[in-house]
Amino acid sequence: MEKGQTKKLAELIKSSSHTVILTGAGMSTESGVPDFRSKEGWWKEIDPRTVASVEALEDNYPLFREFYSTRLKALQTVQPHEGHKIIAKWEKNGLVQCVATQNVDGLHQKAGSIAVKELHGSIRKIRCNQCGNEAAKEQFITGESCNACRGKLRPSVVLFGELLPQIAWQSAFQHIQKADLVIVIGTSLEVYPVSELPAMTNGKTVLINKDPVWTAHHFFLTIEGNAKEVLHAVDELV
Ligand code: APR
Repeated sequence: MEKGQTKKLAELIKSSSHTVILTGAGMSTESGVPDFRSKEGWWKEIDPRTVASVEALEDNYPLFREFYSTRLKALQTVQPHEGHKIIAKWEKNGLVQCVATQNVDGLHQKAGSIAVKELHGSIRKIRCNQCGNEAAKEQFITGESCNACRGKLRPSVVLFGELLPQIAWQSAFQHIQKADLVIVIGTSLEVYPVSELPAMTNGKTVLINKDPVWTAHHFFLTIEGNAKEVLHAVDELV
């Protein structure tokens, strides 16, 4: 992260009239939540198809439930960090119009962000996979089945092989189309269709990421660094 880059991003934020922030798992690692594809990420240890897919839910429910229960229990002690709070403050001050996130941890909302589009759903909401009946997370963690139809309980996250929630996607897409600035933070941009969003705006695009990201999209500005540190530095200039 160079001083000139944070100064440039601060100027872009101040001169933008419609700013969208698009986040991935790298936005939550400094709150203690592992990401997926970094060297200490979930998918370095586990094949996602065995736990985070429709097949896993249908054919290997015990492992599916263990994976998501572990993540749910860990989230009970997780708090948003300063970077989440800065984004919420910018929304409050009219500098950010929408946060579109791939994260299912609810940390943006916990930090105070209101216009949050959860493109990959939420791990905090449990429902019956058969009838859609809502259930408490404790019921899922303890292995109970649906009270209404005895079906399998699952978190309302988007599994590999499932479609994204249409309302969240449409709303995020409209904001991206209107945006004159899209700031992408903490994502490898490896998962379709979110990976396509930066290319769908006519506005300027900025990437803040710890590691290089292999993407066909050419960002107007790329800042290599940790989300919390970069957001803190930019916040001092806006
Ligand atoms: N600051 C900035 N970037 C970070 C930080 C940090 N503190 N920590 C990690 N990163 C970067 C990593 O370098 C990596 O490029 O964040 C990126 C996270 O990428 P992934 O682990 O692939 O996470 P994400 O892009 O959100 O994955 C998308 O994949 O498995 C699915 O549903 C899951 O929503 C997830 C989707």
